[in-house]
Amino acid sequence: MTQTTHVLRDGTELFVRDEGNGSPVLFVHGFPLDHTMWDAQVAAFVGAHRCLAVDLRGFGQSSVTRGTVTMEQMADDLANLLDALKIHEPVTLCGLSMGGYVAWQFWKRHAARLGRLILCDTRAIADTPEGSRQRLEIADQVESEGTSFLADAMLPKLYGSETQTTQPELVAASRDIILRTVPAGVAAAQRGMAARPDVTDWLPSMSIPCLLVTGEQDAISPVEEMARIASRLPLAKHTIVPGAGHMAPQEQPDLVNQAIREFLSAV
Ligand code: MLT
Repeated sequence: MTQTTHVLRDGTELFVRDEGNGSPVLFVHGFPLDHTMWDAQVAAFVGAHRCLAVDLRGFGQSSVTRGTVTMEQMADDLANLLDALKIHEPVTLCGLSMGGYVAWQFWKRHAARLGRLILCDTRAIADTPEGSRQRLEIADQVESEGTSFLADAMLPKLYGSETQTTQPELVAASRDIILRTVPAGVAAAQRGMAARPDVTDWLPSMSIPCLLVTGEQDAISPVEEMARIASRLPLAKHTIVPGAGHMAPQEQPDLVNQAIREFLSAV
């Protein structure tokens, strides 16, 4: 296994787990987690693909930037990382939730580098003004109090009810990650998500193969909302995952990996 930190053009250090050979799949985690949320997917696809599981700016072992880190900035970081890795062929980007928000921007800003898209439990619309205001308050609170209250608030929404009962170790591991994450990094991403645009109008132009994956019990990006995204994308398939909430790839890895395997081998 190769785990390395790459220094980008602006001096930012981005951590990536880089393993396997074959066409590259870039895994982009959700908020406020890190690359380890994709462990089951890396294990499943490392035999056939170069799996790149990154820690976004502000998370895991990557550099923290104070203030606001936009989804556009994170997308540019990914393009710079691919440059640092000398990967010039189009990649498959697999993003969950915030990773999906970054994926939209990656498509907009670096379309030539994107061959296929896997969107797990994410949204295309922007926050409501109230939702955005709440994010800004949470960002300030994280900076003054740390991330523990955020873990308490978010974990019940991230995991489906079944998972919380049958896989408490998964929830506990994510709690540890949230508690370890630097508050300034969490706050900066929260402000960046508050500022993200509505990308619904982009969807009909995204004529690359897309797989959408939604946990049946996802309380953050519900099935109906993901189905609306799928209906606007020209080349999308939508898989609904039973027994999972927002963190479907972690909660039901076998089902999600099966959907990803079929998608990667079909196109
Ligand atoms: C995530 O899982 O990345 C978050 O739920 C995204 C968000 O807060 O909108």
